[in-house]
Amino acid sequence: MGDNEFVVVANRLPVDKVEDHYEVSPGGLVAALAPVLRAREGCWVGWPGNIGETLDPFEFGGIALLPVSLDQDDFEGFYEGFSNSTLWPLYHDLIVQPEYNQEWWERYVAVNRKFAEAAAEAAAEGATVWVQDYQLQLVPGMLKAIRPDVTIGFFLHIPFPAPALFQQLPWRNEILEGLKGCDLIGFQRHTDEDNFRLLTEEIRTGTFPISIDSGEIAVAPKASTSRLREAVGDPKHLLLGVDRMDYTKGILQRLLALESLLDEGKLEDVAFVQLATPSRERIEHYRTTRREVEEAIGRINGRFGEVGRPIVHYVHRSIPKDQLGTYYSAADIMLVTPFKDGMNLVAKEYVAAHPDGDGALVLSEFAGAAVELDQAYLCNPFDLESVKAAVMDATDPDPARMRHMHDWVMEHDVAAWAQSFLEEL
Ligand code: ADP
Ligand code: G6P
Repeated sequence: MGDNEFVVVANRLPVDKVEDHYEVSPGGLVAALAPVLRAREGCWVGWPGNIGETLDPFEFGGIALLPVSLDQDDFEGFYEGFSNSTLWPLYHDLIVQPEYNQEWWERYVAVNRKFAEAAAEAAAEGATVWVQDYQLQLVPGMLKAIRPDVTIGFFLHIPFPAPALFQQLPWRNEILEGLKGCDLIGFQRHTDEDNFRLLTEEIRTGTFPISIDSGEIAVAPKASTSRLREAVGDPKHLLLGVDRMDYTKGILQRLLALESLLDEGKLEDVAFVQLATPSRERIEHYRTTRREVEEAIGRINGRFGEVGRPIVHYVHRSIPKDQLGTYYSAADIMLVTPFKDGMNLVAKEYVAAHPDGDGALVLSEFAGAAVELDQAYLCNPFDLESVKAAVMDATDPDPARMRHMHDWVMEHDVAAWAQSFLEEL
C-alpha cells in the first residue's frame, strides 16, 4: 500500500525520453490528463515508452511518475499486438481487419496484471484510482481483487463498438469481467455507452466527452501567422491537417478531396499543410497508410505544384505546442476527417485558437467531436463529394458558427471533463 490518494493508470507516462531528456508525449490522453494531475497532486502509473527500460519513480513537471517496464515480448504482444492490432481496429468499427491471436491475448493479461499490481502498490487506503483506455481494460477487475478498498474509475478514450462487432472478440467475456471491477465507466458519446449497455447493465456508466486545456491555446501573434503564410506562398486559402499518422484519421481521403477540387478547377490559390506525428510504425496497416499518404502528396505536388511552390507541405514529425498554435491560428480551414474517432482533440484545439470567429472547421460526422461541434462544416469521409462540398462551404465561412463553437470549447474544457467524471465517481 502506498500514500497516493489519487492514482492515474495509463499505458503511457505523460513523458517520452528523447536522447537524454524527457518531453511531454503526443496524444489526446496526455494532453487531457496532465493538467488535472498537476492540480490534484496525484501519481501517474505508466510505461515510459522505451522497450526494456526499468526506471525508478521520478518527478517531471510537478507530477509523480511511477514507471512500469515493458520488455520486447510485452511490446509486441500487448502493445503492437492485442492493443493496436486487435482492439484498436475492432473498436474503430473494422476500418482494417482485427487480428485475433492467443499469444497476444496472454501478453495483454500479463501486462494488465503488471499495471494493476503497480497501482495497488501506489494507492493509499481508500484511494481513487482512474484507469485509462483500451490497453488496460482488465486492470479494474485485477485491482479490485487485490485492493477492494479503492474506488476505481475507467475512461474509454476510443469508441465502443456495436455488440455485433464486439462479439467477434474471442475474449469478450474476459474483457467485460475486467471492466466489472469498476465503480464507474466513462464513454465519449452516448452511442458508445449505449453499445456497452446492450452487453451488460451491471456496471454504472456515464457519458463524459473529453476536452482540452482550452485556456492554454493562445492566439498566435500576427507576425508569426504572417510569416507562416508567407512561407507557404501567401495563398488565399490555407488548409491544415494535424494528426497522428493513423488509418482512422482519413488523411488520404482529405488529400483526394483536395486533388479532385484542384482537378475540377474549383479551388485555386491554395496551400495545404499536413502535420503528422509518426505512430505505431512497425504495424503493417500503419506503414500502408503512410505510404499511401506520401504517394498522394507527391502526386498532387507533381501535378499542381511549381518549383519552389508545392501545394501540400508535409511534416512527418511531432511539432512543439507553441508552433502548433501558430499553424492553428494561421489556417483558414482545418480538415479533421476521421472514419471513426473517440473524440478528436485536434478539432477542439483549432476552435480554441479562433476566438474572433475567423477560420472554418471541416469535421467528419464520425468524430466524437461532431456531437458538440455541430456548427462545423460536417462531412462523410466515406463520400468524397461530401468532403469536397464541406471544403467549398468552408471557403466562405459564417463567423457566427466559429464563435458559437469557440464559446462551447472554452466553457467545456478538460478540467470540467475531469471534474464531472470524478464527481460522478
Ligand atoms: P489521438 O488521441 O488519436 O492521437 P487527438 O486529436 O484526440 O487524436 O489528439 C492528438 C493530440 O496530439 C493533440 O493534442 C494534438 O495537438 C497532438 N498532435 C497531433 N499531431 C501532432 C503533431 N504533428 N505534432 C505535435 N502534436 C501533435
Ligand atoms: C490515442 C489513444 C491513447 C494513446 C494515443 C497515442 O489517443 O486513445 O491511449 O496513448 O492515441 O498512441 P500511442 O500508441 O502512441 O500511445
